[in-house]
Amino acid sequence: MNPNSESAELGPALQSLIRRAEQALEHCLPSADHSPAELHLAMRYAVLGGGKRLRPLLVYAAAHALGEDGPALDAAACAVELIHAYSLVHDDLPAMDDDALRRGRPTCHVQFGEAMAILAGDALQALAFELLADDGAGTVAPAVRIAMLHTLGRACGAEGMAGGQALDLAAVGRPLSLLELEHMHACKTGALIRASVQLGALAAGAGDGRLKALDDYASAVGLAFQVRDDILDVEGESAVIGKTSGKDAAASKPTFPSIIGLDASRARLAELTDAALDALAPWDARAGLLRELARYSANRRS
Ligand code: IPE
Ligand code: IPE
Ligand code: MG
Ligand code: MG
Ligand code: MG
Repeated sequence: MNPNSESAELGPALQSLIRRAEQALEHCLPSADHSPAELHLAMRYAVLGGGKRLRPLLVYAAAHALGEDGPALDAAACAVELIHAYSLVHDDLPAMDDDALRRGRPTCHVQFGEAMAILAGDALQALAFELLADDGAGTVAPAVRIAMLHTLGRACGAEGMAGGQALDLAAVGRPLSLLELEHMHACKTGALIRASVQLGALAAGAGDGRLKALDDYASAVGLAFQVRDDILDVEGESAVIGKTSGKDAAASKPTFPSIIGLDASRARLAELTDAALDALAPWDARAGLLRELARYSANRRS
């Protein structure tokens, strides 16, 4: 399959799930009317008003594939997006990628200062775990809730996103093998994408067999998503991608295009999309949202 033959837009079911996620996020964030107002404002700025919401969509879509759409999914959907937003705030800091544009607006530290951006990231991370630990909907068994907390903790810690970011920083200006590059991408971006699918599946009561198939899907999508991100940094326009294009090359970041070239990066993206869809081959039409998200991850323009 050529992923470029597929649409770069999401269909109405996923659009409606984006609205569901936006509402849940608005609801879970602290009000800017309360002290410490500046911190609350920075948290809200980092999360609301932009972003594709891919990770919440994966939570809902994975659960949908298993026949679950209930309110317990909202906490998981918010948790993964809060972790993601925190990772972006810290990723943009001068000590990391030193970026001034995110989601078409000034980055959090440009808007609120570095100290507040660091604290906003810290508080968003803590809120993610608080939400997941809360049993508001009362439909997820305690043991499953603990498994969800464990999954999210691993995904954003030293074995996952934070570890991948450390590998990214250590690799600047140093040639990486394709294997090392894929490992770094799998950690910094893939781990949270895998966790999103796992959280949706766990909330839906998936057993080991289904979790494994969904994890094969998510591993492929997670890597594909960062390959597409690397390609967009080369060929996307800042006005469309909402962040400064060309930053990776300027900062000597190891990326798919810099290590294997653009054509081979596109070929790898097609391969990964095929692998994601193959993992779902035995699944029925309820896995349609997951299939759509695999194609979208490879074709998105922003
Ligand atoms: C950007 O993620 C950072 C990566 C992990 C590649 P997204 O492309 O999902 O960013 P938003 O949430 O849509 O802004
Ligand atoms: C970031 O990767 C991955 C994160 C864990 C935030 P990038 O540094 O490539 O993400 P962008 O391009 O700034 O969104
Ligand atoms: Mg980075
Ligand atoms: Mg960055
Ligand atoms: Mg990037």
